[in-house]
Amino acid sequence: MINTHFLNIELKSPTVLASGILGLTASSMQRVIEFGCGAVTTKSFSLDWRTGHKNPSIIPFEHGMLNAVGLSNPGIDEMVKEIRLFRRQCTAPVFASIFGRTLDEFGEVTRRAAEAEPDMIEVNISCPNVHSEFGQPFGESCPDTAKITQIVKKHAGKIPVSIKLGPHGPGIGKLAKICEENGADAITAINTAGPGMLIDINVRKPVLANKTGGVSGPAILPIAVKSVYEVYRSVKIPIIGTGGITKTGDAIQMILAGAHILGVGTAVYYEGIEVFDKLNKGIENYLKEQGFDSIEEIRGAAHE
Ligand SMILES: Cc1cc2nc3c(=O)[nH]c(=O)nc-3n(C[C@H](O)[C@H](O)[C@H](O)COP(=O)(O)O)c2cc1C
Repeated sequence: MINTHFLNIELKSPTVLASGILGLTASSMQRVIEFGCGAVTTKSFSLDWRTGHKNPSIIPFEHGMLNAVGLSNPGIDEMVKEIRLFRRQCTAPVFASIFGRTLDEFGEVTRRAAEAEPDMIEVNISCPNVHSEFGQPFGESCPDTAKITQIVKKHAGKIPVSIKLGPHGPGIGKLAKICEENGADAITAINTAGPGMLIDINVRKPVLANKTGGVSGPAILPIAVKSVYEVYRSVKIPIIGTGGITKTGDAIQMILAGAHILGVGTAVYYEGIEVFDKLNKGIENYLKEQGFDSIEEIRGAAHE
């Protein structure tokens, strides 16, 4: 009932591990699959190893999480090894999340990532916590979004590409359309929102060493649902609805807004990896109770 086709990929469930959470090693990715997760997305990786920002870089708060991890990753050589290992150990789909510092680097990382034969390449052009280093995210500029989509598609070969967008910039519907026109196969919406800031009232300074970071978790659910709704109206390619999904009702809202499959990140911190199983059972129960046989029957229903 909840198995899903996405870009000709068969997923046992519509819940997907979002990038940045437990996606650094084959063993951690395999573990989430054992708990009902339908596909895994790796942590975003670049050509070279990156340490990211200083600690504290992740702060949980009442309504979600603030992070300025700063795209730390072991670099492409290590990540290609982990993806290959995952593929040998597990039949579930794996999505390779990549980023580059320059437009050309996006092409090079894609070409190398494609050698590991992931089921999809997700292109992170929307991280909001590396402003100090990279400036405005590429995904807030229409020309850069178009160019990166073209470059990545050129180097990805037969592997499908999803462009990961954030809720900021010239309008997520407009950006998604640009991605589609330039060959993207899917859209992932959304990345963390912000950047935001939390201040420690005792030391009277920002809590994060980086001062600001991306906001995720329940606090951004309404922004994510609205973003997916807008993308669904703008494009025909499928959407990985991500942002704030913690409970069954959140997942259903995303599907009603138009999401094909569902990215889950921060909820893994709060609920543990059991969250995938809980969400899958919740979605199944909702469908049964409401008299539906499949997710397809309710996808995008909020638009009718
Ligand atoms: C600690 C942390 C690290 C993240 N790292 C990445 C990353 O490397 N690449 C990326 O595309 N998104 C990254 N994200 C964003 C998530 O993939 C997701 O888009 C966002 O957190 C919203 O979903 P959520 O509310 O379910 O967490 C990160 C999020 C968190 C909380």
